[in-house]
Amino acid sequence: MIKWTTLRTVILTMETEILVADLYNWKDASVTASALLKDGQVVALPSETVYGLAASIYEEEALDYIFEAKGRPSYDPLIVHIGEVSDLSKVAEISDELKPIVNLLTETFWPGPLTLVLPKKKEISNTITSGLDTVAVRLPENEILRETCKIAGPLAAPSANRFGSISPTSASAVFKELNGLIPLIVDGGASREGIESTIIKPSPAPAEGKKPIFTLLRPGATTREELRKIGKIEKPKPPKKDSTESIKVDAPGMLDSHYAPKTPLYLFNSFEEFKPEEGKKYGLFTLKGEDGMYFKKHAWDEVMTLSPGNGKTKEGAVRFFWAMRQLDEKGLDAIIAEPMNTANIGEAMMDRLRRAAVNC
Ligand code: TXA
Ligand code: MG
Repeated sequence: MIKWTTLRTVILTMETEILVADLYNWKDASVTASALLKDGQVVALPSETVYGLAASIYEEEALDYIFEAKGRPSYDPLIVHIGEVSDLSKVAEISDELKPIVNLLTETFWPGPLTLVLPKKKEISNTITSGLDTVAVRLPENEILRETCKIAGPLAAPSANRFGSISPTSASAVFKELNGLIPLIVDGGASREGIESTIIKPSPAPAEGKKPIFTLLRPGATTREELRKIGKIEKPKPPKKDSTESIKVDAPGMLDSHYAPKTPLYLFNSFEEFKPEEGKKYGLFTLKGEDGMYFKKHAWDEVMTLSPGNGKTKEGAVRFFWAMRQLDEKGLDAIIAEPMNTANIGEAMMDRLRRAAVNC
């Protein structure tokens, strides 16, 4: 594993190039990124959810470097991205019992923001799975990422931010997080969904005539409402206290504080819990802005509105992490987040707000 001291040397020498991929050159951008990936390097690529920090699943040193560059603990496993459904057999070992359910899920939701946790192929590196016997896989919709997966994949890729900080939905956000640590960021524009993929672990129906079970490990851009049409959604079993084994078995990345701005963010059950202090600057993070519940209740120093007017959650999601980043850079003493409806992608946004909040 590369030591932090070695990494510091890399920081001083590495120049991070931003390669803009447009309608005409996106395939070339993918070829450039693929050459670096095949050479064992780590590069940032766009996706429809958030930008990813990618390495070939066959390049062990590059996989280690993902953890180093992100400052991510080794117990938090990575998602593998594939370029076509047939590549699933390169990473997962799917039993005959599970096959029809996996087929139904991939036919319904892929390419797209749904990650499946499946029994792993034994060749898959423990660095990717953090030693688990399962692997998380998705077939992304973003064409640049998919094409790169076809040429140089499968690719392991977490979100391209430092561990615990705000997920990046643009190349400039990745640059702020990882400048000097990686050779290339492919700029594919703003992420179309704006929130990470939904992660489920599918299991067979408990009895004939019943729906298969989807254990929801992380709400995301594929909604509960969409998944419910073909399966029964269950919560993961609560982890046993003080057991590292339980961290492994349930949802590793879900236990930590995540997605947090540097400015403390608060999420209250009711506005009355907010006790502003004299002389302090407060920013409001709101879906509906003027039409929301909090807007008129305080003289805010800054307001960031995700979807003015009707407050459409789908539109709000696209701007969610971008807006959080903007507020974080305003020099505020605290950010107050207005709660939102948890229907559809609102569930994932509330999940991220709870994880970002210092009081939840
Ligand atoms: O939309 C996304 O999923 C983005 C893009 C880049 O694809 N990726 C992403 O990766 O959000 P990351 O590393 O930030 O989050 C992946 C989550 C982690 O919380 C990790 O714990 C979980 O996936 N995970 C990975 N493998 C797992 C496994 N075998 N079992 C349970 N959870 C797993
Ligand atoms: Mg992440």
